[in-house]
Amino acid sequence: MVSGGPRFRVTPGASLRGELRVPGDKSISHRALMFGGMAEGITEIEGFLDGEDCLATLKALQALGVRIERPGPQRVRVHGAGGRFNAPVAPLDMGNAGTAMRLFMGLLCGQSFSSVLVGDPSLSRRPMERVARPLRLMGARIDTTDGLPPVTLHGGARLQGIDYRLPVASAQLKSALLLAGLHAEGITRITEPAITRDHTERMLRAFGVDVRQEGLAVSVTGGQRLRAVPVAVPGDFSSAAFFLVAGCLAANDGLLLRNVGMNPTRTGLIQMLQAMGGQIEIRPGDPNAAEPVADLFVRRSRLRGIRVPEELVSLAIDEFPVFFIAAAAAEGTTTVTGAAELRVKESDRLAVMAEGLASLGVRHELHADGIVIHGGPISGGRIDSHGDHRIAMAFAVCSLVASGTIEINDVANVATSFPGFATLAQSIGLPVESLP
Ligand code: S3P
Repeated sequence: MVSGGPRFRVTPGASLRGELRVPGDKSISHRALMFGGMAEGITEIEGFLDGEDCLATLKALQALGVRIERPGPQRVRVHGAGGRFNAPVAPLDMGNAGTAMRLFMGLLCGQSFSSVLVGDPSLSRRPMERVARPLRLMGARIDTTDGLPPVTLHGGARLQGIDYRLPVASAQLKSALLLAGLHAEGITRITEPAITRDHTERMLRAFGVDVRQEGLAVSVTGGQRLRAVPVAVPGDFSSAAFFLVAGCLAANDGLLLRNVGMNPTRTGLIQMLQAMGGQIEIRPGDPNAAEPVADLFVRRSRLRGIRVPEELVSLAIDEFPVFFIAAAAAEGTTTVTGAAELRVKESDRLAVMAEGLASLGVRHELHADGIVIHGGPISGGRIDSHGDHRIAMAFAVCSLVASGTIEINDVANVATSFPGFATLAQSIGLPVESLP
């Protein structure tokens, strides 16, 4: 018997049709709030993700004295104070949001006041030294709790730019260092081991910051001001991903996903699914938008197993749970390597997906940095999501190719990234029933 919390129950064998719009991008919504708070002037955000993760960022900014209004659904108006924040009177609660915690570490470590950042039990198990260590090299004074949250940022540090090579491909780490770099003297230059999402770089440029890119190195000079600009948040590719796979599995007449963010640092899943035989048509929107968007039309496809090129891993990092479902449904074997970062997400996504696949009779071999999945028959069963939103949604999609009902426990955190998932899924024919 798996542990409690609200559940999903999904009956098998549905077929999908119609069209939908997924909610706004989580990464971009976090950044729009933070950069709005740092900027001079008023930042109008539309398409904002009203998920719990981004609301944690919103509340933390309010606790730092930033005035924020909600003029309508998915709209936010941030009154920037030019980066002049007030000292928070209590610890800032980041909830489940790794992006919030890591970016706030960079943003707040150069302030005159001290702050304490806390998170929920899942976030409290995630590594923070990878951020604290380079920030200390810049002069910040930071305590983690045995490498984990809570994190204390001591005020009054004077930051110096650094030239730093990231030990892991992480956009959160890169972004934290760039934000600290804006408060540092001189140039901060970060070199990544592989390309990661570049929303910070794109949005800082839109806010008037000179961000330089040379190959895998990105740099900023300290002391630059941000100027408020309107931000249009596209649909979250990582949320669309569930329906891209679902469409490949069960959309006989096709499924249309509208206004999906298509930043090329995010869309590795499309390449992976297409390499497996997935029929996905891309109908591009405005090519000059700061963040490109497209409508995606996907139809039921015969999928074949592949070896995933390691260079695609960081371009699809959040999509692996649902990609593993595509692999389980494919003919033949799919091999993923170079993906150890999956072990430090909202759950250990390699171990938790392997456990769930085993419960449904899917043959696989788990490795330290990846997994080999053998496509074949998939039974119904019970899945423990370990409170991880993307695991829960991935196994809901799995019901399309399972022979029995799938029940998934502990799904409350779906609201961190995809509020309304069950209702939207039902609207295109995926019968996700929410149970208390
Ligand atoms: C994110 C970066 C990625 C991703 C996370 C959001 C971001 O994490 O998994 O969901 O908004 O910068 P890492 O930076 O740890 O790779």
